[in-house]
Amino acid sequence: MLPDKDVSIKKYNTFGLDVHTKAFKTISSLKELQDVLLWNESHDFMILGGGSNVLFTKDYDGLMIKNEIKGIEIVNETEDFIDLKVYSGENWHQLVLYCVRQNWGGIENLSLIPGTVGAAPMQNIGAYGVELEQVFLSLEAYNYQDFNLKTFYKNECEFGYRESVFKRKFKNQYFIFSVTFRLSKHPKINAEYGDINAILESKGILKEHATIKDISEAVIAIRESKLPNPAVLGNSGSFFKNPVIEATLFKTLQSQFPDIKGFEQTNGVKVPAAWLIEQSGWKGKRIKNAGSHEKQALVLVNYGNATGTEILDLAHQIIESVFQKFKIKLEPEVNII
Ligand code: EPU
Repeated sequence: MLPDKDVSIKKYNTFGLDVHTKAFKTISSLKELQDVLLWNESHDFMILGGGSNVLFTKDYDGLMIKNEIKGIEIVNETEDFIDLKVYSGENWHQLVLYCVRQNWGGIENLSLIPGTVGAAPMQNIGAYGVELEQVFLSLEAYNYQDFNLKTFYKNECEFGYRESVFKRKFKNQYFIFSVTFRLSKHPKINAEYGDINAILESKGILKEHATIKDISEAVIAIRESKLPNPAVLGNSGSFFKNPVIEATLFKTLQSQFPDIKGFEQTNGVKVPAAWLIEQSGWKGKRIKNAGSHEKQALVLVNYGNATGTEILDLAHQIIESVFQKFKIKLEPEVNII
């Protein structure tokens, strides 16, 4: 089947922006991907997963390929762990719920993150004390140049904070086809994150007795209380990354702003972007149809009819204010197109 022409992708991006793509095709196998790429010849194309980490500032003058390649297979199993190969078009949160039901531990802290399995290693998704790389074994990726499927092991992926080799030196060179995870059959829970602990306590659950289901439920509750549901209010989660700044700058800022929080990293000090934005007066503020969310300043929202440019303008104003006040340059976490 040939791609559809001039399609609105409003329902395929969580900002809910009504932009159009010149051509649109859903694929459910690698063969369908190959066929549509051959049809497209050398024109522009992009892969869309859950559309949850992208801001469209204009119509897309190319072929948009929506990944619906699904499947979950057990590829290895012992008394202690299970290796799960998951195809890239699977929904991330549905995978988490499936694993929690089987009592396979490792990704429960990553509950309710929007998007697909294929997009997860791309930016090494992370939340509530866990990053994808902790359970990642390997992935298979299809090379657009030579049409081969290559396996990448963890050490080849160069994972970092919201980073991987697929966002850097291999950008736009590979299609992530499947991801293999190692999950534990004797899960150790991770309740280090303050809010998780508080929820367990409020339910009278002792940390030592908590199950991965308890953790998943706590994470879902925290996310639902702070992060707007994209189906109700368009957004793409955190719009900016938490910046890592030099220790000397952090010391200077600490003397000026004693409340500033910082988390030491090997390459500097990570500062919460939400705090910087809030201190710069942007939390809950709205300009035209775009705003910084009232419960989480780091999340930019579409109040209904915003354009991508309106959201980007707001982002630029926030970057400018934060820079004026703190001499820190925020960087977007979402991909801007
Ligand atoms: N804070 C503020 N103002 C706010 C919100 C938060 O000052 O409006 C302060 C909090 O007091 C806290 C700090 O900022 O000290 C951190 O806040 P929070 O725990 O909510 O996490 P975050 O650093 O803002 C990151 C991820 C989220 C992830 C949470 C939980 C990034 C860019 N974002 O946010 O990921 O869910 O931690 O682990 O690293 C996403 O990537 O889309 C996302 C939502």
